[in-house]
Amino acid sequence: MIVINSIEKKFGPKVLFDGCCAAINPRHRTALVGPNGSGKTMLARMICGQASPDSGAIAVPASLHIAHLAQEMAIEAASAGYGGPPVFAGLTLSVNRGDKVAIIGPNGAGKSTLLRMCAGLIAPSAGRIRTGGNAIVRYYGQHRLEQLDPDKTLYDTIAAAAPAMASSAIQSILGLFLFSGEDALKTAGVLSGGEKARLSLASILADPGNVLLLDEPTNHLDIESVERLADALATFEGTALIVSHDEFFLNRTATRILEIRPGTYRYFPGSLADYRSYIEEGYIETLQGPNGPAGGGREGAVTREKTAKEQRVLTRESRKQLERRIRKTEEEVQALEEEIAALKKTVDDPANAHDFQLLHETLETTGGKQAEADRLTDEWGRLQEELDTLNSENPA
Ligand SMILES: Nc1ncnc2c1ncn2[C@@H]1O[C@H](COP(=O)(O)OP(=O)(O)O)[C@@H](O)[C@H]1O
Ligand SMILES: [Mg+2]
Repeated sequence: MIVINSIEKKFGPKVLFDGCCAAINPRHRTALVGPNGSGKTMLARMICGQASPDSGAIAVPASLHIAHLAQEMAIEAASAGYGGPPVFAGLTLSVNRGDKVAIIGPNGAGKSTLLRMCAGLIAPSAGRIRTGGNAIVRYYGQHRLEQLDPDKTLYDTIAAAAPAMASSAIQSILGLFLFSGEDALKTAGVLSGGEKARLSLASILADPGNVLLLDEPTNHLDIESVERLADALATFEGTALIVSHDEFFLNRTATRILEIRPGTYRYFPGSLADYRSYIEEGYIETLQGPNGPAGGGREGAVTREKTAKEQRVLTRESRKQLERRIRKTEEEVQALEEEIAALKKTVDDPANAHDFQLLHETLETTGGKQAEADRLTDEWGRLQEELDTLNSENPA
């Protein structure tokens, strides 16, 4: 149980807590609600031990492990535009570390403007944007392609973006974006539009920081490169905000959706496929702005009705992705089992029979690894079932 005992906390002149008491019991799920600035984040930080109350105490039993998912970016009632009426107004969004947020909506809705604001390229005209203290933000937009130095080789372009990177790593990131060893010595100036986009993305991912802002990253990319980019993002542990019209790509990468339309927006904490099916099944309504019904444009029609060809590509993509995850899960379970076997040897070794500290620690580690292996085995079964269903519904 976590006990908050009569705490007081001021932030500057503002009193956030005055004689606040509370208890959080085992298995309780407690929501912290309240307006901006009322002290929710401060309370979380005090419970984590990152800040202390001015008086009173918060008692956290030593046996508890506290995991804290920090807010990476907070957009608070922000408006932005280009001097005239704002492109969007009063937008509030909280992005947690590791979130991959897809920003979708019709052309002109303000997606790129929002991303530019997050990148600090334009300032909000009202409200504010706060970025986590350790955030290293990287922005990819159309203009990045024009910033490539035409006289630099591909190799030097990556080396300049990530000076600490070893030569073999530079080659491998170029390879990941489908440039061969010989290509590395070409200059950026001779590349086609699609190759420039690949090079520019490779140079960002060579040193991605921890917050990636990507504006239409799959424009000019062929399907294989889109796949490579999606793979790279899947292993990226940082936060990403992605503007894209590419449903395949977003389905592979996004874990959160922000839909914006003129005069309105909506946040959905799930995948794009879930978002679409929630709307299709009537759990939530199609997002409508104050300026009339939504989705009347060409784009709405395109996203709703997938052609048979697109459906086939989607199926093929899902199958590939499932197969890859199944393989990866198998490898992980195998690696864990090897580790567990090695740990068992330590326990069985007569030489260690009286080293109780070692035995205790080893058994504890073994238990953790076993639990993880069990979880992955379940996951493997679930993925395998999903693949079987996909294959039976879509015979090759
Ligand atoms: N540099 C700019 N100067 C003035 N207006 C702009 C500029 N960039 C975009 N706009 C306008 O802002 C609105 C939103 O554009 P944008 O953010 O590019 O939308 P989206 O990315 O959703 O297509 C559009 O009406 C567009 O014409
Ligand atoms: Mg745009």
